[in-house]
Amino acid sequence: MEGGREPSVWSKRQESCKMPLQGEKVSPEDWLFSYKGVLYPAKVTSPETFEALKSFEARSDDMILAGYPKSGTNWLGQILRELESTDAKYTEEEMKERINEENKLKTFPRLEFGDPGIYERMKKLPSRRIIVTHLPPHLLPPSILQSKAKVLLLVRNPKDTAVSYYHFYNNMPVLPSFASWDEYFPAFMNGKVTWGSYFDHLVEWNKYIDHERIMMISYEELKEDQVLGMKRIAAFFGFSLCEEDFARIAEKTTFQAMKAKSKETHGNFGDILFQKGVVGSWRDLFSKAQNEEMDQKFEECLGGTKLAAKMKYDVYCKA
Ligand code: A3P
Repeated sequence: MEGGREPSVWSKRQESCKMPLQGEKVSPEDWLFSYKGVLYPAKVTSPETFEALKSFEARSDDMILAGYPKSGTNWLGQILRELESTDAKYTEEEMKERINEENKLKTFPRLEFGDPGIYERMKKLPSRRIIVTHLPPHLLPPSILQSKAKVLLLVRNPKDTAVSYYHFYNNMPVLPSFASWDEYFPAFMNGKVTWGSYFDHLVEWNKYIDHERIMMISYEELKEDQVLGMKRIAAFFGFSLCEEDFARIAEKTTFQAMKAKSKETHGNFGDILFQKGVVGSWRDLFSKAQNEEMDQKFEECLGGTKLAAKMKYDVYCKA
């Protein structure tokens, strides 16, 4: 299905999120708020939305995609939509109907975005819902982990994630800018960025690594062999696709293909989101000392864990 369900979700919702993507940076006091000690962008969500989120009701066939910001959630979200719509064999008409329904219900591209009324409206979305979130498990609404919904956990190495987030922060009108990489680095290391600490996020998810309804996949693994990664995902969600389907979806979701269509799918946000899409760009920015600090912090927080082993930190992050 052309574009899956992604078209216009970002661009249409910019207005309701009050995202000033074409204008100047918003004033500092409007940038962020803190909820339970973690920062979030005030233009896309609110403490009231977080309170309302507790009432979210997961369905047993929901597909939850969880990943810290900048780990490639837009990419994997699109891949998931393509896999699901191919498996479900929606007709063109059905696909349009599904997109219309999302637009009518004014849904948002992330579970924790939007107005507090969103969770009531989400009840009306047709199955299977694909729900993307940047939240760690202990901040998710309880019904997600209590239900039979499956969770796909996306992880990206911390060095590239940090670099991606730095550029995103400085380009995104709803976030405050950092004067330099050196000013930003300690903020990332200490979790003083939106959605909090990368390390805490993964420490929490690592507790669920053996859960039968949770599957982890890494950005780097998808970059190395996307078809193999998609086959693992298809097996996890019970999709039945043929080799041609996988090849077609891989072609449609390359960085270049998604960037080329980004005006249509993400509006002006596309120019901010699709930066480089590569593994290893941290090498351009990290100093020797920052590199060592990150290695040490990763070891302290996640050393010896199953999650760390799966991420292949030594392959992607060692100088
Ligand atoms: P870079 O900033 O390193 O380029 P998220 O979607 O979670 O915000 O993550 C954004 C990161 O995913 C950005 O990384 C972006 O370029 C990358 N990305 C988006 N689409 C991609 C694709 N099709 N293939 C590879 N990377 C992609």
